[in-house]
Amino acid sequence: MIDTTTTYLGLALKNPLVAASSPLTGNLEDAKRLENAGVSAIVLPSLFEETIQHEQKQLEQYVHSQSFGHFEADSYHPVPEDYNNELDNYLDHLQRLKSELDIPVIASLNGVSNTGWINYAKELMDAGADALELNVYYVAANHNQTGIEVERRYLDLLKSLQQNINIPVTMKLSSQFSSVSNMVKLLQTEGADGVVLFNRFYQPDIDLDTLKLKPQIELSTPSEALLRIRWIGMLRGRVDLSLAATGGFHTVESIIKALLAGADAVYLCSVLLNKGPEYCEVLLKQLSDWLIEREYESIKQMQGSVSQLCAIDPASYEHSNYIDVLKSY
Ligand SMILES: Cc1cc2nc3c(=O)[nH]c(=O)nc-3n(C[C@H](O)[C@H](O)[C@H](O)COP(=O)(O)O)c2cc1C
Repeated sequence: MIDTTTTYLGLALKNPLVAASSPLTGNLEDAKRLENAGVSAIVLPSLFEETIQHEQKQLEQYVHSQSFGHFEADSYHPVPEDYNNELDNYLDHLQRLKSELDIPVIASLNGVSNTGWINYAKELMDAGADALELNVYYVAANHNQTGIEVERRYLDLLKSLQQNINIPVTMKLSSQFSSVSNMVKLLQTEGADGVVLFNRFYQPDIDLDTLKLKPQIELSTPSEALLRIRWIGMLRGRVDLSLAATGGFHTVESIIKALLAGADAVYLCSVLLNKGPEYCEVLLKQLSDWLIEREYESIKQMQGSVSQLCAIDPASYEHSNYIDVLKSY
C-alpha cells in the first residue's frame, strides 16, 4: 500500500491532487464529484471585491431611484429581505461545502482595496475556510510604477493580512517577477505559508472586425507545465513554505515531474474541465501504479528528489545547457 499523503499549508492531505479555482469548485454537485474522484482539497473560485463593489453601486442606484417620487420613501423597503449579495452567496457556498465535504476547502480572494482584502479575508476565515489563497492578478500597467513598488504591493498586502487572520495563507503568483526566487523568499519573510506557481494571465485579443479588444479565456496546454516544474525545482529546499504547481498539469507524467521537482501539491483545472471531475480517479490510479513500478513507498520519498539541490545535473535548471538546446534543434 503506497502512502500518498502530503502536507500542504500545514494541512494533511491524502494525496497531492488539489482541484484549483474553477467553475467546478463553485458548484456543490461538482465539488462532491471532485471529492468522490479523490481530490484531496478544493480551492474555491475567487471572491472578487470588484464584483461586490459593482453590485453595491447598482443596489444604491436602485434604492435611490425607488425612493424618488415615492410618497413614504422612508418606510418603503424596496430590497427584498431575502436578497443575497455576492458575498453572502460565497459564504453560503463555503459553509455548505464545509458541512458536506470531508476534504479541506481553501477560499480564494481577489481584493482591490486594503480594507477589502482584510475584511473579506476575515469573513472567509470566520465562515470556516481551512486556508486562504490570494489571487492578486495584478497587471502592472502604470509606466511610473517600478518593479520594487509592484513587489511592495504584494508584501504589504501579506503583512497586513497576517496581522488580521490566523489561517494559513498562500499567494498565487505571476511568473513575471525579475527574480521569482527572491520574491518567494520575501513572501516567506512576511509570513506566507505557501505559494502557488503560477497564475495564468489571460490575454485580451483584438477583434479585427470591430477593432475592439475582446476578453477571452483559453484552457491551458500541457507545455505550460515545464515553467512551473522548473521554478518549483529551483525553490525546493531553499525556501521554507509550501509549494503548489498550477498551469498545464494534464497528465500523470507532468504531475510526477512536479512532485520530483518538489511540489507539495499539484493543482488541476483545465484537465478536469475537459475530461470531467472523475478523471482525477484515473490520474490517481496512474500515479500509484507509477510509484509501485518504481518501488517507491510514499510520495514523500520522491518529493524533491530531482529538485535543483538534489539533481544529478543541477546546472540544467539554469542556463548551462542553453547553447546545447539551441544546437539540438
Ligand atoms: C474557467 C476558469 C475559471 C477560473 N477561475 C479562477 C478564479 O476564480 N481564481 C483563480 O485564482 N484562478 C482561476 N482560474 C485559474 C485556475 O485556477 C488555474 O490556476 C489555471 O487554469 C491553470 O491551471 P490549469 O492549467 O490546470 O487549467 C480559472 C481558470 C478557468 C479555466
